[in-house]
Parts: sequence; structure tokens; C-alpha cells
Amino acid sequence: MNAKQVKKDIWWVGVKDWNLVEFHGYSTPRGSTYNSYLIMDDKITLVDGVKHYLSDEMIARVKSVTDFSKIAYVVVNHVEMDHSGNIPEVMKLAPQAVIITNAAGKRALDEHFDTSNWQFQIIKTGDTVSIGKRTLSFVTTPMLHWPDSMMTYIAEEKLLLSNDGFGQHYCTDALFVKEAPFDVVMDEAKRYYANILFPYGAQAQKALNTAHDLNLDIEMIAPSHGCIWQGEEVKKILDNYCRWSSGENQGKAVVVYDTMWGATAKMAEVVTSVFEDAGIPVVKRCLSMAHISDVITDFMDAKYVAIGTPTLNNELFPRVAAFVTYMKGLQPKNKKAFAFASYGWKPGVVNQIQAVYEQLGWETIPPFEEKYTPKADVLEKLKEHVKTIIA
Ligand code: FEO
Repeated sequence: MNAKQVKKDIWWVGVKDWNLVEFHGYSTPRGSTYNSYLIMDDKITLVDGVKHYLSDEMIARVKSVTDFSKIAYVVVNHVEMDHSGNIPEVMKLAPQAVIITNAAGKRALDEHFDTSNWQFQIIKTGDTVSIGKRTLSFVTTPMLHWPDSMMTYIAEEKLLLSNDGFGQHYCTDALFVKEAPFDVVMDEAKRYYANILFPYGAQAQKALNTAHDLNLDIEMIAPSHGCIWQGEEVKKILDNYCRWSSGENQGKAVVVYDTMWGATAKMAEVVTSVFEDAGIPVVKRCLSMAHISDVITDFMDAKYVAIGTPTLNNELFPRVAAFVTYMKGLQPKNKKAFAFASYGWKPGVVNQIQAVYEQLGWETIPPFEEKYTPKADVLEKLKEHVKTIIA
């Protein structure tokens, strides 16, 4: 388990979680990595830790370059446990090291671990720390992904160590994006944004503006998940983050539903056909087959959203309820939405979806529901109703 060179005297000492299938509810069919970086300068600096169960792998990679007793600084960019889980073990091996983090990071470390013997240096945006030939500077990026999140920039290397930002849950033998299929990396970066950062578009825009105001010249972005962006790829991922965080979409439609006896599926088919006939690119996702983390990624490109549910025990169908809860938390912006439902003996469950649309501030048309199986005339009415959302 050796380190891999990122640049001269800068090493990747992260770990590979090949078997990760989900990350707090987000499906990760390609696994993930937790990237730590070791900077060999006058003051040797380790940036970010890894998940606790892969600590041995990280420790071996660090030891392939240096001894823990020589580490001067440990930068904690983010306290979520995929990056801080093995920090207690690191601090046992390097008790002389000073942790560099921001005030929210210090608080979160105190709340997770026994930090009584740890030394801290607390920084804020724009602060710098010289480690010899290089100077670290910091940009706090609250809510990208937690209140404590920040990024570390090394001007001499034109290198941004971005932690969760620009990451991908993608485990591969490739260290750099250029060594991997580009479309796969960008697709995983997009899935990551949709499932982790969707609610924080305003904060992402602010962070991008701060980077611009600080005149950060960036030739390489090394996130703490997935592959490292370089050269032209940096512009591509920055442009996409600008677009994704602006709430802009591609004008597409997404129809999400589940079905018990086929009635809601029939309605979903008709709703889909209306978008298709209007020349609007549309995807139809049945929640018995599509994972919520793939469906929410479709929302990045969608202007129109239609969600359909059967009624089960006077409630939303459970898989639809789960999706609606997930969607509500991730707060996609700027949608035109419509809800439809099938019921047996008690109508009204569709209003629960409508209420969520309204909480999200989306434009809506009234919901549509039908008892048992919709007949041809009802499906015609549904068609006419859906057309009113396309204007
Ligand atoms: Fe990769 Fe928010 O942790």
C-alpha cells in the first residue's frame, strides 16, 4: 500500500472503498475513495483523514513516504466521518501535529471525539500558513457539505484541495481524471452534486465567487472523493458547478411513479406521452426499478416534474413517499410540477405531493386523481390537463 505521486513532493495517501454500495442512502454502484494528501515540505502536512475502517490502508500509504512523528500539521477540511473517522488514530500516531481547521470544524471535532490532548490552529477564509516552500490558504465553504467544510489552496502549486466539492463517488485504479473515461467521471460528479450538494446552490455560488475574488489560479483540483481534475478538465468541472448551482436546467421532463395494479402506470404513460408529443425530452422512472439517487439526478436537467402514486392504506405508496421525502430534503429549484394518483375508496393522498411542491416554491397545476382504473375518457382528460403545464 504505497502512496501515489500527485505532484513533486505531494502524495495521494487515500484509500479505496471498492465495496461501498451506498453512502447515507445514495447508491454508489462504482464505490468511492476517501482521498488524503501528504505534502512533503519543511513542515510536513497531511490533508484530511479517511473512514475509520480503512485507516490501516491510509497509515501504510503515509508510512511509505514518511514517519508520522515528522508530521507538523493535519488539515481537517471537513469533519464528516468519511474524512475524520481515522483522525483520532492519526493523532495517536502524530501527537505533535497541530490540527488546522476553522471554528466550526473545531467545534465538530470536539463533539465527535476526545480532543482534549489535540493542538489546534483555527483559521478563517483568506488566512495563510507557511509550511516552507509552500503556503496554504483557506476558503471556508459552509454547507458544502457541512457547516465546517472548507477547502485548502496552495498557490505555488496552483492546487485546490477541495474536499467534498468537485468529488465523485467513483473507485477506480485511476488517480487522475485523464486516466479514466471522462464521461463516467463527469456523470459521477453530477450524481454527487445532485445527491449531496443540491440544497446548497447558493452556498456553492458564494464559494465560487470567493475563489474568484481571491484570484485563485487553479490548475489542479484534488477532491477527497474520486479522481483529480487537471488543465482543461478544471474549467469543465468549474463551469458545470456554476451551471448546476445556478438552478439552470435543460428544459427536460421527468415522470416518477410507482404502481400497485397498473392504474398509476397507465397514467404515467399518458403523462409521458404528452411531454414526448410536445417535443420535450422526457424520462419515465418507476420507483420499483430506479434508485432514488438516479431519479434525483434526472432533476438536474428537468424543468417539468410529474409524480404519480397509488394509494395504500390511505397514504402515499411507500416508495413514492420515500422519494418525495428525499426530494424535499434536496430542494431542487425552479420546477413546474404536477401530481397524479390512483385510489380505491378514499381520494386525497395526492395532496401530500402537491403540498411538498408548494413548500419547494414550485409552479404547479392542480393534481389529478382517479378511482381504480382510468378509462379512455379519463386518460383523455388527463392528457388535456397535463398540456396546461407546458406553456
Ligand atoms: Fe465526503 Fe460530507 O463527506
